[in-house]
Amino acid sequence: MPGKLVVGNWKMNGDLRHNDALLADLRAGWPVQAMREIAVCVPFPYLWQAQAALAGSVVRWGAQNVSEYARGAHTGEVAAGMVAEFGCKYVIVGHSERRALYGETDAMVAAKASAALEAGMTPIVCVGESWAERESGAGEAVVVHQLDAVVSRIGRRIAETVLAYEPVWAIGTGRSATPEQAQAVHEVLRKRLRKHEAAAGSVPLLYGGSVKAGNAKALFACADIDGGLIGGASLNVDEFLAIAGA
Ligand code: 13P
Repeated sequence: MPGKLVVGNWKMNGDLRHNDALLADLRAGWPVQAMREIAVCVPFPYLWQAQAALAGSVVRWGAQNVSEYARGAHTGEVAAGMVAEFGCKYVIVGHSERRALYGETDAMVAAKASAALEAGMTPIVCVGESWAERESGAGEAVVVHQLDAVVSRIGRRIAETVLAYEPVWAIGTGRSATPEQAQAVHEVLRKRLRKHEAAAGSVPLLYGGSVKAGNAKALFACADIDGGLIGGASLNVDEFLAIAGA
């Protein structure tokens, strides 16, 4: 069983002054000997700030997106190699907000995962179904299809990723999946990972979607839930540390 991992996704939030306080409190508040790893994925302009504040601590940092291309005429895009220069361990790829709002396809997400790996970082690959897909009984097929698209591109290197199950209907809604609902999908994903590649059975499987201090313990206690990807609650240090310690 992989060690537990709790990652904050700040999304498009933060400013220099508040980040300073938040990062310092995180660094001070997370014990060096903690059994779990914690990380924060911050907007691109604040990567240097996260690096400056967290270097030498046990808290890791990362980005929330990356270009599928290595360099060149892609105005406004940020290459994985650039992100890696700021000491990032993780890069979130395929978040449902990027799929829904910015038209990211399975193929693009797979290319981004590949770019992150090539740059020496760990992609946190997000998968998740909409409420309509769940209601129609297609939820598991949707997440398996999303996972398979990444495997078809990166092959055995799927064992070097982190996979996050984030049901779209649970993100930012206050309506988390129940531990039973989340565990059921995680079990499907774990089996699928093993089927692809034996070593991928130990890929950390994170749950994301309205995780709070109050529901984290029950979620993290599930057999196939290895931690969480935390949105809104990661902006409050006390709440985030309470989740990480749950
Ligand atoms: P919330 O925790 O705000 O529901 O967001 C989850 C998420 O999207 C993390 O990537």
